[in-house]
Amino acid sequence: MNDFHINSTKKYNNSYKKSVESPEAFWGELASKNFIWKEKWSKVVDFDFNKAKISWFKNAKLNITVNCLDRHAESDPNKTAIIFEPNNPDEKNKSYTYSELLKEVCKMANVLKKLGVKKGDRVCIYLPMIPELAFSVLACARIGAIHSVVFAGFSSNALATRIDDCESTLIITSDGSFRGDKTLNLKKIVDDALKICKTDQRVLLVKRTNESVNLVEKRDFLLDNLIINIEDTCEAEIMDAEDPLFILYTSGSTGKPKGMVHSCGGYMVYTSYTFKNIFQYEENDIYWCTADIGWITGHSYILYGPLSNGATTIMFEGVPSYPDFSRFWQIVDKYKVNQFYTAPTAIRALAKQGVRFLENNNLSSLKVLGTVGEPINEEAWQWYNIHVGKDKCPIVDTWWQTETGGILISSSPKVVPDKPTWATKPFIGVQPILIDENGNELDKANVVGKLCIKYPWPSIARTIWGNHQRYVDTYFSAFENMYFTGDGAFKDEDGNFRITGRVDDVIIVSGHNLGTAPIEDAINEHDNIAESAIVGFPHEIKGNALYGFVTLKSKSENITKIKNEINSLISKKIGPIAKLDKIQITTGLPKTRSGKIMRRILRKIASNQTENLGDISTLLNPDVVQEIINNYQK
Ligand code: PRX
Repeated sequence: MNDFHINSTKKYNNSYKKSVESPEAFWGELASKNFIWKEKWSKVVDFDFNKAKISWFKNAKLNITVNCLDRHAESDPNKTAIIFEPNNPDEKNKSYTYSELLKEVCKMANVLKKLGVKKGDRVCIYLPMIPELAFSVLACARIGAIHSVVFAGFSSNALATRIDDCESTLIITSDGSFRGDKTLNLKKIVDDALKICKTDQRVLLVKRTNESVNLVEKRDFLLDNLIINIEDTCEAEIMDAEDPLFILYTSGSTGKPKGMVHSCGGYMVYTSYTFKNIFQYEENDIYWCTADIGWITGHSYILYGPLSNGATTIMFEGVPSYPDFSRFWQIVDKYKVNQFYTAPTAIRALAKQGVRFLENNNLSSLKVLGTVGEPINEEAWQWYNIHVGKDKCPIVDTWWQTETGGILISSSPKVVPDKPTWATKPFIGVQPILIDENGNELDKANVVGKLCIKYPWPSIARTIWGNHQRYVDTYFSAFENMYFTGDGAFKDEDGNFRITGRVDDVIIVSGHNLGTAPIEDAINEHDNIAESAIVGFPHEIKGNALYGFVTLKSKSENITKIKNEINSLISKKIGPIAKLDKIQITTGLPKTRSGKIMRRILRKIASNQTENLGDISTLLNPDVVQEIINNYQK
């Protein structure tokens, strides 16, 4: 028997065993019993890791929105699907039942069709966390268009790169967005992006802030105009299980962002199954994930995972600090939230404000707490456990990636016990291993290694948009026949995993994945900058922050001005999330004789750990190290 709901350790052990011993039988039965397929598959899984060729449910036909919407709209039409909580608590909230959500999605789908969008076309979505964002994503899925959501904090340059890379034909945006006490003019950012884009776009504009915007004739269309008298039904496009569902860009350690491509069938099965079991979602629970839909967490665990389970999911437009630092807890009490899922950086920022912001909230509805995006430190874990969970809510520390589509390692209430700062056990079907420097599997306990996965799971990304070779090179060429995550991990004798962090040049800042190379490229565009190197250093709230070492072409009297210009360049090219916390101007960067920057040394200096720098005598320019240490920015 292969239950969808895993609510005991025994069931977990049985299912895990079956999923590893006979993956085809396991996933085939699970997918068959719990989802609506138009046609079944000819083969459950087929793969060749060395070529990064992976398929799940080959030749099956389905539409994910039928599983997320229609089936619930039929069986339980009045159940609330999405609750929208606006940025301003004085603005009235909105909620949509499954039947209403289906209609809204169909209306949006018909608008997209009216604008000429067809199956396989890419649609770029650059919206704040408003209901139309959910409608747009699901409308694309309804008609088989591939959505590419770009987080609405990215700059016009970053947006333009993403538009051009996937050659979208339509961009959905809003006049502006509300974030705390600020408003951001998104349409202006889109206009700027379109000035530099190489591909022609149409723009669909959603009204949110009602500020005046520039409308370009024949290019820009108001949703309000197109939606009048539009039909509220729309046939779901029949998709192949392996057709792309969406592209989501993530930073790489080098070059331009990688458009990770996720497919329809496997992604649906895996996000749905993990959502149900990791959060132990029960029939009438209210679930809230505070992520933005611009990131993978929002795709998988605000929309697709919860909706495919017929859950009630909250979308929050605002920030944890507005109107004050009790906002999260007010929302938890307002809706009697049962599962609450957020990022360690938010927990640390809230903990820093002290417990007075929690005092007037009882939080007694909470059953499960979750974290995602970066390792959680013991102190933050304990604060979360004691002050939010009142020491009665299990904390699921969920480890996964944009590339993995769904959670791969996590505890689960009543099933896999939590352990502070540990992600713990692999989810059903996931086979993680640790690899040593020489590429050998570490089969002993209590060691650190590079985290790899040796068998595909249904929601693994299928490729990088437009560059399959980069997909092979980044994830499948480090070690033979396995997926390399880019993370390091530690494993104990019980098989629990603790993630130690990235082992490449990606730095996680406030839960955001930032590649150092694109930031350095941005800085190097400054007229007076010769070279730069970015490293991470530990930060009380952000987890890591960025430290930039910069050399100038010619001496400058006004260092403050240069530092400000560096951060403005970064904001412009990437977005404010990538700004540097510390900038040090230096006469040189430590290099090997072959000219490679020794980031290891810079990392130590940036973390103020200069006792053990190792042998620096073989460097091209050992003297510069002392100069850098002397001018360390506290
Ligand atoms: O380093 C790991 C870290 O975030 C990376 C993935 O980032 P991204 O693709 O943006 O996806 C974030 C949301 C899933 C991972 O390679 N990471 C994610 N979750 C955890 C984590 N590190 C430690 N513990 C976690 N729970």
